Amino acid sequence: MMTRLTLRRPDDWHVHLRDGAMLAGVLPETARHFGRAIIMPNLVPPVVTGADARAYRDRIMAALPKGMDFTPLMTLYLTEATDPADLARAAAEGLITAVKLYPAGATTNSQSGVRNFDNVMPVLEKMAEIGLPLCIHGEVTAAHVDIFDREQVFLETVLDPLRARIPALKVTLEHITTSQGIDYVANASGDIAGTITTHHLMINRNHMLVGGIRPHYYCLPVAKRASHQQALRKAAISGNSRFFLGTDSAPHTDETKESACGCAGVFSATNTLSCLAHVFEEEGALDRLEGFTSLFGPARYGLPVASQTITLEKRDTAVPYPAKIDTGAGPVTLFDPGHPLYWHVLDA
Ligand code: NCD
Ligand code: ZN
Repeated sequence: MMTRLTLRRPDDWHVHLRDGAMLAGVLPETARHFGRAIIMPNLVPPVVTGADARAYRDRIMAALPKGMDFTPLMTLYLTEATDPADLARAAAEGLITAVKLYPAGATTNSQSGVRNFDNVMPVLEKMAEIGLPLCIHGEVTAAHVDIFDREQVFLETVLDPLRARIPALKVTLEHITTSQGIDYVANASGDIAGTITTHHLMINRNHMLVGGIRPHYYCLPVAKRASHQQALRKAAISGNSRFFLGTDSAPHTDETKESACGCAGVFSATNTLSCLAHVFEEEGALDRLEGFTSLFGPARYGLPVASQTITLEKRDTAVPYPAKIDTGAGPVTLFDPGHPLYWHVLDA
């Protein structure tokens, strides 16, 4: 039985680090294991200009504890007012790695998102021209569409027509939660990839709703039925380089999660790699873990594979993770996979 596994240092291709006291609290959790991460721009107000991205990157670097080695890969939040010239400049300066599309109203802090795609065509055409990827939160927001169908409907009514309009646009469909999303990315022609979160590999909607409502499993896109979870697992372990890790670790304080109207987001940075090793071992695919966490993402983004490595070790006894981490903004509950974890990352 395998009890040690060395991987190129992983990257997280979708994470929320927030700002201020929350940033200071959660950043070490990501930087401890991940060398780089795509930083979501949904702050309040959002990161929309090159200047915003520079200032946010500087705040992240200022919050990084001494001795930790971490590179934030910045994104801009696409709005209908985004200036293609500002965006192209930020890309040329190496300040941004991607642009994020939130359909207006889709999720936490997405009020400034896109309502009418006609208004962002010049920006998307510029991105296609310069090869800057668009990271997409793929859910429609129309009130009549059932929340469990929002991803599937997005593929048909928004994503496919959009890609037909701009075939050269590089697209990352983020946090895929449905078999339809997996099939779309696996089979589409053109430049497309998809990220999968840790928690969507480990839970389905029953975990969230059976035997009591569990607010810490509520996130967007919402977890779907078990058959979709199985499709995500199959894609993650497939070795298909179009699928790689974006944890979507999205911290909210317990006060805002455990509420009559709780926020969407699962915080998993601390134990994500333990969880993933568990899943890949369950699937008999530990040999595929490195591709998913450390190789396919850099290839997709045209970045070098990490030169450093991390080593995971399997213990006989459960790894003692805290139930929550304390941040200056308040306690944040850690993702609970619902069973003990035995793999852990050895200290470098
Ligand atoms: C994210 C957040 O809290 O910012 N929440 C979530 O449930 N994933 C937003 C997002 O990525 O949708
Ligand atoms: Zn997210």
